[in-house]
Amino acid sequence: MTPPLPALLDQIHTEAQALYGKGRVADYIPALGEVPPRQFGMAVALVSGESHTVGDAQVPFSLQSITKLFTFVIALKLMGEGLWQRVGREPSGAAFNSIVQLETENGIPRNPFINAGALVITDILTSRYAHLDYALLGALRRLADEPNLHWNPRVAKSERDTAHRNMAMAYFMKSHGNFQNAPELVLDNYCRQCATEMNCQQLAQATLFLANGGRDLAMDGQPDELFLGADDTRRVNALLLTCGAYDAAGDFAYRIGLPVKTGVGGGIVAVVPGVGTVAVWSPELDAKGNSVLGAFALERLVALTGWGHT
Ligand code: DON
Repeated sequence: MTPPLPALLDQIHTEAQALYGKGRVADYIPALGEVPPRQFGMAVALVSGESHTVGDAQVPFSLQSITKLFTFVIALKLMGEGLWQRVGREPSGAAFNSIVQLETENGIPRNPFINAGALVITDILTSRYAHLDYALLGALRRLADEPNLHWNPRVAKSERDTAHRNMAMAYFMKSHGNFQNAPELVLDNYCRQCATEMNCQQLAQATLFLANGGRDLAMDGQPDELFLGADDTRRVNALLLTCGAYDAAGDFAYRIGLPVKTGVGGGIVAVVPGVGTVAVWSPELDAKGNSVLGAFALERLVALTGWGHT
């Protein structure tokens, strides 16, 4: 029989710590380079309403690319199938910040999770919302049932001051007519978006609708509310499985086999449809920008629970 979740999380926490020192904290955004590397937190939220945590699961971290999951969902709700005129839905097989495919593919990014695709999504939302940061925070506050979420101004400024490559991609897409707003304005919004902070427990909770047919699990005894349609939920999970870990998506699918979204802050969120969500955070990254301990912990959790196994 499988041991209860709290015991499994303790075991994974212990095993994961052997991997400290095997990755490197992201420092191309200078403020992220200051995060102490030897931290590890993990939270599991189940559609039954149960949740469990271990380690530094209450420590807020920079969501970075994990926010792309939520901005993509907001854009899909707004635009439906029309979204696919502006961005593709194929894995890129290239680094998250690669610029090369834009040149041969008419300024249409491969998918909404690589930086170029996420910038297009932020451009779409910039056209719709006067204050995109509050639109995103509003959705996250509702989903996580947590009124105090915020973005970190120091991290946002640090990224904005060094966002040369993302700016280049924005201008390149604008030259192809695939950008509506001024790149400077979109980059301001994008850097604030990426600087959003949450802890593992909040992130697992905020993502639970993806494991629950699009229904936001109400914590106060009220019936669940539909946040995203069931078909769109399935589509988002499909994209997370094929594109959520960039050029490591194949490796993640092989090792973990679940829809995931990773971020250079060291967070990873995984969806187990019908069961729940797992958020894990540890700042040391591998060469492809994904958390070393985070990927290991997810791999162990699915092996020990059988989650995602057919
Ligand atoms: O645009 C960037 O480079 C960062 N704000 C986000 C990149 C990121 O998190 C990639 N994920 N592994």
